Amino acid sequence: ELIAGFQGVVYQYYQEHGRVLPWRRTSDPYHILVSEIMLQQTQVERVLTKYELFLARFPNFEDLSRTSLREILKVWQGLGYNRRAKALQAIARQVVAEFDGRLPADRHLLQTLPGIGPATAGAVLAFAFEQPVIFLETNIRRVFLHFFYPAEDKTPDKMLLPLIILTLDSQRVRHWYYALMDYGAMLKKTVPNPNRRSAHYARQSPFRGSDREIRSQILQI
Ligand code: ADE
Repeated sequence: ELIAGFQGVVYQYYQEHGRVLPWRRTSDPYHILVSEIMLQQTQVERVLTKYELFLARFPNFEDLSRTSLREILKVWQGLGYNRRAKALQAIARQVVAEFDGRLPADRHLLQTLPGIGPATAGAVLAFAFEQPVIFLETNIRRVFLHFFYPAEDKTPDKMLLPLIILTLDSQRVRHWYYALMDYGAMLKKTVPNPNRRSAHYARQSPFRGSDREIRSQILQI
């Protein structure tokens, strides 16, 4: 049916072109968190040059909590937006002081930590803890706009949430979100204006008809 069709398109792309990235080979919450904070405002290619170096220098929350910001920034050099390094250090100190050195697997608690908003909390819960969370970030948003609101300029996130919930592959949360992120990154490179119906959309979409029909087809299920 429609949901399986949509998942199939995204998973097929992921199988053929999914990115192999070092932070996708681990489920260590510290490693996942470091990668997600780095990826907030920095391109994947640049993060790749620092991620492993950072973890080699600061292997866990305990180490990071005991390191001066000056030392952390020496390794952070090149990633930019240094406040993220400061936030990571503050998180490490709080995790050591309040959570016995372990990152809490709880959305609300994660979002009380500095530098962690809804998207980063969602990514950590999906990738480190395999929780069936609902979250949006740029690439994921682009996929849902492309398939479900292809002819609209502005679509608020709250219109997308029912679709994310409906299409979540709750047995394979981690891979599903990786697949969405990779599909969205591909759209950014290959589809000039993802909010406009295009030949690309027509080829890739399992949906037929007007935007309104498509939305009602899937939202009715
Ligand atoms: N893999 C895991 N998290 C990612 C992210 N935020 N961007 C790209 N690839 C990722």
